Amino acid sequence: MLRTAVLAAARSPLVRRVVESGPFDPLVGRFVAGTRDDDAVAAVRRLATDRYITVDHLGEDTTDRAQADGIVAAYLRLLVRLADEGLAHRTEVSVKLSALGQRLPVDADKIALDAARQVCAAAGAAGTTVTVDMEDHTTTDRTLQTVRDLRVDFPWTGAVLQSQLRRTEADCRDLSGPGSRVRLCKGAYDEPASVAFRTAHEVDRSFVRCLRVLMEGRGLPMVATHDPRLVEIARVLAARNDRGPADWELQMLYGVRPRAQTELAAEGLRMRVYLPYGTEWFGYFMRRLGERPANLAFFARALLTR
Ligand code: FDA
Repeated sequence: MLRTAVLAAARSPLVRRVVESGPFDPLVGRFVAGTRDDDAVAAVRRLATDRYITVDHLGEDTTDRAQADGIVAAYLRLLVRLADEGLAHRTEVSVKLSALGQRLPVDADKIALDAARQVCAAAGAAGTTVTVDMEDHTTTDRTLQTVRDLRVDFPWTGAVLQSQLRRTEADCRDLSGPGSRVRLCKGAYDEPASVAFRTAHEVDRSFVRCLRVLMEGRGLPMVATHDPRLVEIARVLAARNDRGPADWELQMLYGVRPRAQTELAAEGLRMRVYLPYGTEWFGYFMRRLGERPANLAFFARALLTR
C-alpha cells in the first residue's frame, strides 16, 4: 500500500514541483549521479575502473516537442563526450520513450521513434549501444514495436522486460533470438492484477522462468536485479548454459548495493551500473523510494530536518 501511495505521488505534478524545486539533496545524490553532463562523465570515469555503465539522461512523460528535442540533444552531447574521453567502450545509454515523445498527443510513436533513431545513430558512431527502458504496462506493446523498428538499422538495440507482467515469459521467448539484448527486471510500476503478478513471490518465480528462457536462448541476457537469490540463480543458469562472462551481464542501479557490485565484478562477472543524471530526477527517485520503505523513512527524516 505504501508503495502504491509513493508511486501515485511520483505521478503528481504538484509534488514534483515542490520536491524538485529544492536543492539537489545528498539523499537524491545517493541514486542520481548529478544534474550536469560533467557529473555523469565523472561518475562514469569512477565506475569504469571495474564496472560497465549504462547512462540514463533523466526525463519522462515529456509533454511538448521542444522538451523531447532537448533530451535528444543531451544524449548526442553525452555520447560525443564519452567517445572523446575514451569511455564509450564501457558505457552504453538507456532511453525512456516517454522522454522522447511517446506520450505526446499527436504522432507520438513516430516522434519517439525518430528521436530514438537519432540517439542510436550517435551511439553507433561512438561505438556503443542503446537499451530502451520499459515503462508502465499501457506502453509495453508500443515500446516493443519501437524496439523492433530500431533493430532494423541498429540490430544491437536492447529491450527491457518486467517479470511482474504476466505476458513477459512469452515476450522473453519472442526476444531470445540471436543478437538480441534483453534486460530483465522485476518492474518498478504499480500494475493491476489483471496484467501483473501482485506478490513478491510470484514476481520472483516469474523472474526465474524468464531468466531460464533468456539463458537458454541465443541473445545476451542482462540480469537487472539486486536480489542476491536471483543473482545466484542467474549464475547457476549461466554456467548450465555454457555462458562465459562476456555472454551475459548482471546489472544494478547506481547507489544500490555498491559493495555487491564491486565484489561481483572482482569475481570476474560483467557488472553494469545503471547511472541516471539530469535535473528531472523526481520520478526516478520516487520509484527508488517505493522499492524500499527504509528509503522512505530516511527521506522523511531528511525533509523534516531541513
Ligand atoms: P527487490 O526490490 O526485491 O530488492 C532486492 C534487494 O535489493 C533489497 O532487499 C535491497 O537490499 C536492495 N534494493 C533494491 N532496491 C533498492 C532501493 N531502491 N534502495 C535500496 N536498496 C534496494 N524497472 C522498470 O520498470 N523499467 C525499467 O526499464 C527498469 N530498468 C532497470 C534497469 C536496471 C539496470 C535495474 C537494476 C533495474 C531497473 N528497473 C526497471 C527497476 C526494477 O524493476 C526494480 O524495481 C528494482 O531493480 C528493484 O528490484 P530488485 O530486483 O532489485 O529486487
